[in-house]
Amino acid sequence: MNQASVIVPSSPLYPPTITPPEVPLPLYRFAWRFLGNPLLAIPQQVYQDRFVVLRNPGAPTIAWITAPDLTERVLQNKDNLFVKTPLEKRVFKRSIREGVLTSDGPEWRWQRRVMAPLFRHSELGGYVPAMAEAAAELTSRWRRDGARKRAIDQDMADVTFSVIARTMLAGGEPDESETIKQCGERYLSRIPWEMLWELLGLPEWLPHPAVLALNRASTQMRSAVRAIINRHRRSGVSDAQDLLGQLLNARDPETDRPMPDDLLIDNLLTLLMAGHETTAKALTWSLYLLARAPHWQNQIRDEVMQVVGNSSISYEQISQLPITERVLKEAMRLYPPAPVMARTPVREFDLEGYNIPAGSQVVIPLFCVHRHRKLWDDPDLFDPDRFLPERAADIPRAQYMPFGVGPRTCIGMSFAIMEAIVLLATFVRDAEFDWDRVHMPEPISRVTLRPKGGMPLQVLPL
Ligand code: HEM
Repeated sequence: MNQASVIVPSSPLYPPTITPPEVPLPLYRFAWRFLGNPLLAIPQQVYQDRFVVLRNPGAPTIAWITAPDLTERVLQNKDNLFVKTPLEKRVFKRSIREGVLTSDGPEWRWQRRVMAPLFRHSELGGYVPAMAEAAAELTSRWRRDGARKRAIDQDMADVTFSVIARTMLAGGEPDESETIKQCGERYLSRIPWEMLWELLGLPEWLPHPAVLALNRASTQMRSAVRAIINRHRRSGVSDAQDLLGQLLNARDPETDRPMPDDLLIDNLLTLLMAGHETTAKALTWSLYLLARAPHWQNQIRDEVMQVVGNSSISYEQISQLPITERVLKEAMRLYPPAPVMARTPVREFDLEGYNIPAGSQVVIPLFCVHRHRKLWDDPDLFDPDRFLPERAADIPRAQYMPFGVGPRTCIGMSFAIMEAIVLLATFVRDAEFDWDRVHMPEPISRVTLRPKGGMPLQVLPL
């Protein structure tokens, strides 16, 4: 039954953001701020200019680039000038090591080719029932628990991990899930130390205070993934069409060798981590914005009731939920789940008159691109209608790019969008979200964009 609803727009919503330093900081203050929240070390000019170059004696040059034509040039990488940064490789050297996210050249290409079939459009529809099921399980839990304040960030991490495990591993959610989730969380929260050491030009043999914690978390995560692989092998399933089956059957096109065990672990861990953390953050921030903007919540609820009713969302219905999609897109503009991308030039290059040496950090701070003063009207305002088709047509590709651009663009983009729409639509149909009018979560970069202090929201099952 269609219900008429009266929509009362609330006052404009300017959700929490950060206050950048007015000028580039001297090295010691840069380092201090970086450890707390790397976004707080990026100067205000980066939100206003095409690019900003920072040279600190003894440390690598940093170029923050925000102009869409320049970021597109870096990310498309037509002249093979850029590779993944030593910083990213160093940060992940203990955990996902040489997998598809961190490798370059032929090593990267064949791993990406092996994974590509799992993310083809023809495969994606098949994942939707598992997504809808995981969403329904969570909303049933909410119903059982009754109205109460919940750590929504935690709930989102649990449900997205469950989706990735059910869809990528034929055996469903493994016993090792908790270890991988918790160690992953610990690993990401200690990473700024490793980043800072690299940015200061400090050698790898010089330990920093987070070395032990990083080592411990990565050893535990990797043994958990090894256990999953061993169990899969013991089960005798050799031609499984799930991710692990594909990886086990993959052959290097040049040598015909199978993927060595260490590389198998790198990639399975990459997919489990990259495939749940980011989507969890997209949903966490979306629900926060909806809790602050109840009239958007009502619009989504009406849309879902009209298109889906009380059933599970099907693949075909996903494209019929444009309001849900607009809210998600605007949430990922204001709070990009991966807030920073970076590359390193292998040769020096000229950036509009500035010489950028080989080995520099060329940083594309999505957080700043998505809130750039010269690119967006009222950039800090929550306004999902920016993504109405007639308005979105004018947005250049490299001005809004939560999934990146070019050959290294997110392999899981379509999967993630589908998943986020199915989950968000189900949650808003089945529950109401409210905030306590006190918690103003600062967005804090820990590879993914977290809400400082977590995301407590009042959940009222409907
Ligand atoms: C809202 C969810 C997601 C966001 C915002 C996101 C964002 C990104 C971004 C920005 C990159 C490019 C990094 C760069 O160029 O440096 C990337 C790469 C990647 N993402 Fe995602 N991602 C999401 C979900 C997923 C999912 C669901 C999967 C897998 C199931 C996944 C797997 C990967 C992998 C493997 C790469 C590396 C690709 C390569 O280097 O060839 N991501 N992601």
